[in-house]
Amino acid sequence: MSKTYTIAVIPGDGIGKEVTPWAQAALEKAAEGEAAFTYEHFDLGAERYLRDGAILPEEEEERIKATDAILLGAVGDPRIKAGILERGLLLKLRFDLDQYVNLRPSKLYKGVTSPLANPGDIDFVVVREGTEGLYCGAGGAVRRDTPAEVATEVSINTAYGVERVVRYAFQLAMKRRKHITLVHKKNVLVNAGDMWQRIVDRVGKEYPEVTHDYSHIDAATIYLVSDPSRFDVILTDNLFGDILTDEAGAVVGGVGYSASGCINASNEYPSMFEPIHGSAPDIAGKGIANPTAAILSAAMLLRHLGFDEAAAKIDAAVEADIEELGSTQRSTEQVGKDILARI
Ligand code: IPM
Ligand code: MN
Repeated sequence: MSKTYTIAVIPGDGIGKEVTPWAQAALEKAAEGEAAFTYEHFDLGAERYLRDGAILPEEEEERIKATDAILLGAVGDPRIKAGILERGLLLKLRFDLDQYVNLRPSKLYKGVTSPLANPGDIDFVVVREGTEGLYCGAGGAVRRDTPAEVATEVSINTAYGVERVVRYAFQLAMKRRKHITLVHKKNVLVNAGDMWQRIVDRVGKEYPEVTHDYSHIDAATIYLVSDPSRFDVILTDNLFGDILTDEAGAVVGGVGYSASGCINASNEYPSMFEPIHGSAPDIAGKGIANPTAAILSAAMLLRHLGFDEAAAKIDAAVEADIEELGSTQRSTEQVGKDILARI
């Protein structure tokens, strides 16, 4: 008998609704005979907010907390003021569910054109801290809308929060090419940067096989386009990781092939998996959104639950699909079917 997992599904807005069913279908097919899934659907996102003002009602959040993992499509709508859904839904889930590892792999697939002239082999993963830094919401504003207005955003870095994500990065590096690049700005952010570096140095001693080096964030943005194959695991804080992973998505041919995981690595709460792309209102409803990134997020979910082989099946199917058919114009349904047939 295979174990049954409960998955919270938050399709969200726009193309999120169109691609998420394919992530579920891939999950089912890849784990057939190994795991079974039941789904709890949550109507959250811009459309819900515009309809009844709800962002993340407590009762719904409690039900999400009780699941084994979360599949998220995309949230966002240009009609809603910036910050409302980001802080009230996405970041609230990341913080309340203590998803301290934001895991973002970047791989240049054969058959995808990189904007770089000589991309080389690109296959790295960004381990972005997910619950601290400038995202904490520490700060405030006084004398708003006056010429003397003051606005502060404070970056919070705790030794506890840094050490746990550093440990995750070393463990991940052991399963990969055993190299970590810490990215920060320790020449200017001397308090936080120095703490990150000392913790990496200390934890690194427990992993003598893993080499680690350091790059300032500004230099890292150059290396990402000039020599991306140098990277294996990039370890960085919340905001630097946010910026760097958008650039990473671009160098591997666009965010259409990138998935991410917001991971509570202590497994106290469910982790959340999503394609990196947004709700794309311009193409929503047309049936042409590419479900590949959503399907890859299902593979990350499976790997998180311990189904490495099932996850590898999805990864291989996606890789083969892109190599053979990546440059063809296909509907959402066609790409979904093509990938599923290979799983
Ligand atoms: C991301 C997004 C979010 C972030 C926003 C929407 C809050 O840009 O997942 O990278 O900044 O983390
Ligand atoms: Mn981002």
